[in-house]
Amino acid sequence: LRGVKFRNFSIIAHVDHGKSTLADRILEHLGAMGERDKRDQTLDTLELERERGITIKSTPVRLNYTRPNGEEYVFNLIDTPGHVDFNYEVSRSLAACEGVLLLVDASQGVEAQTIVNAYLAIDSNLTIIPVVNKIDLPAADPEGAAQELEEVVGIPAEDAIFASGKTGVGVPEILEAIVERIPAPSGSAQAPLKALIFDSVYDAYQGVLLFVRVLEGKVSPKDKINLFSNGKNFEVDRVGTFSPGLVVGQSLEAGEVGWIAAGIRDIQDAQVGDTITRTDFPTDAPFPGFKPAQPVVFSGLYPTDTEDYRKMREALERLKLNDAAFSFEPETSEALGFGFRCGFLGLLHAEIIQERLEREYDLDLIATAPAVIYRITLTSGEVLTTQNPAEFPTRDRMERVEEPYIKLSVMLPEEHVGPVMQLLQERRGSMVTMNYVGKRVELIYEVPFAEILYDFHDRLKSISRGYASMDYEIIDYREGDLRKVDIYVNNDIVDALAVVVHEDKAYSLGRKIVDKMAEVIPRQMWAVPVQAAIGGKIIARATVKAYRKDVLAKCYGGDVSRKKKLLNKQKKGKARMKQIGTVEVPQEAFLAVLSTE
Ligand code: GTP
Repeated sequence: LRGVKFRNFSIIAHVDHGKSTLADRILEHLGAMGERDKRDQTLDTLELERERGITIKSTPVRLNYTRPNGEEYVFNLIDTPGHVDFNYEVSRSLAACEGVLLLVDASQGVEAQTIVNAYLAIDSNLTIIPVVNKIDLPAADPEGAAQELEEVVGIPAEDAIFASGKTGVGVPEILEAIVERIPAPSGSAQAPLKALIFDSVYDAYQGVLLFVRVLEGKVSPKDKINLFSNGKNFEVDRVGTFSPGLVVGQSLEAGEVGWIAAGIRDIQDAQVGDTITRTDFPTDAPFPGFKPAQPVVFSGLYPTDTEDYRKMREALERLKLNDAAFSFEPETSEALGFGFRCGFLGLLHAEIIQERLEREYDLDLIATAPAVIYRITLTSGEVLTTQNPAEFPTRDRMERVEEPYIKLSVMLPEEHVGPVMQLLQERRGSMVTMNYVGKRVELIYEVPFAEILYDFHDRLKSISRGYASMDYEIIDYREGDLRKVDIYVNNDIVDALAVVVHEDKAYSLGRKIVDKMAEVIPRQMWAVPVQAAIGGKIIARATVKAYRKDVLAKCYGGDVSRKKKLLNKQKKGKARMKQIGTVEVPQEAFLAVLSTE
């Protein structure tokens, strides 16, 4: 291939094990970062990503490396998202590579995501270069971490490179290992085109840009290309590489990583994992493993101000342009009015979308509790799926219900195993295996997905003093005794507050929700009852007491600024309230089901 020697690799790690910092040090070492960029972590581009310190979008970068012996190489470093919600994206980014750097924090050792990511790499047949990172930390135990990698993933401890993204120690060794250990890409440029889409972004001028790895063949402007998943054809306008900005090139050949602009307007046509070929010289089979992006967590999003409905629709449409995994459709709630039912890849994805709507589009939103997709067989024989608890049928109408299950992997110190197993039991989990890794334990459980949506991660962290880490994948659907719990405020049913829960937990959850609501709904002039019910039968009840004193009474005759402050505070609190009948219900009430006991 034009005499250029390529190495395509990715960096994978548990959250916070230093992926972005090390990537930056590598970039810096290869002169890819100007002084100006040094302030920020270049690979994490979204503002939100920076704040949260996690990577959401994969951003590739092309680097030139000259070995100490003078040989020249071109590296393509493909960044991967650092969260379980985006595991499919990670697997596709990995499929674009021949090798990975598997980072482990020298003071933390192997964590749940280290293992899951390592297996994603193994499944893609990649060469793994183990890197024990942060060896500058006083608490670092590099040998111990390398040993753990050997035990858990089967990578020989002596293969590990000890490094620090902070000081730059080990970076030259890593660069040499990339050349020596990771194989050169194979695949012929003379073969029919086969290119894998590992990411896509929307560009206002060029349309959707496909981020691709060319596996075989060659693609150039004016080529007619075909997408395997939907059979659609497009004409290539431009192709190029990442340096790290977009650089326009002549063509992309087998082994290369780059981008294609082909006048694609709808991101739905540029699905991650899909294969591109040429209509005049087509390949016979796509790259295996394509899965259309499928939301698995759903929530209703409503503007607090009904006037904002149109603005919200426009904002959702714009976010959707860039995110094939996000879905929305109009939804009407008796309580909340006009809004949207939105679908996400997971809770983090949901939070990100919500935050972007609020920050970038200046919207005030009410979000309903997240729910999963249920499969219901009615007594009539009809089968339906729903992800909206408000639409969940009553028991007498259902033959059976199935819910999604996950395979959950939790990594934790030995001493916390008891309480964590108890938590998993409470969440209707069943143990698959338990593995010892030095003084730590990996628990593998099968758990209903819905059970980890509600405050599971927080509880896991708190009972393990922050030491447990987790990862999961959705495996299948299984039958469960699920019921809808309805919530009444001031004797009116509030559809948007309904939740679906296992029969054994309906009473305790109903109790928890009404207590929490009674706590967060502001006092009114009269006592307001809050009730939970199943099929019309009340199972729990609490009361929002009537208030006695005017809030301003405290400041009577007192200083004016204090009074102003209090009023402002009240006004602010109002921003996220919804009028339900005569009662103002705050956002927290809609998420009462999520609150930690
Ligand atoms: P994700 O993008 O969420 O996967 O996180 P990350 O793995 O990219 O972690 P990041 O590079 O953001 O580093 C996490 C934290 O560890 C930051 O506070 C870094 O400053 C710190 N850190 C990273 N590398 C080193 C290192 O080599 N030594 C020390 N002492 N700290 C480091």
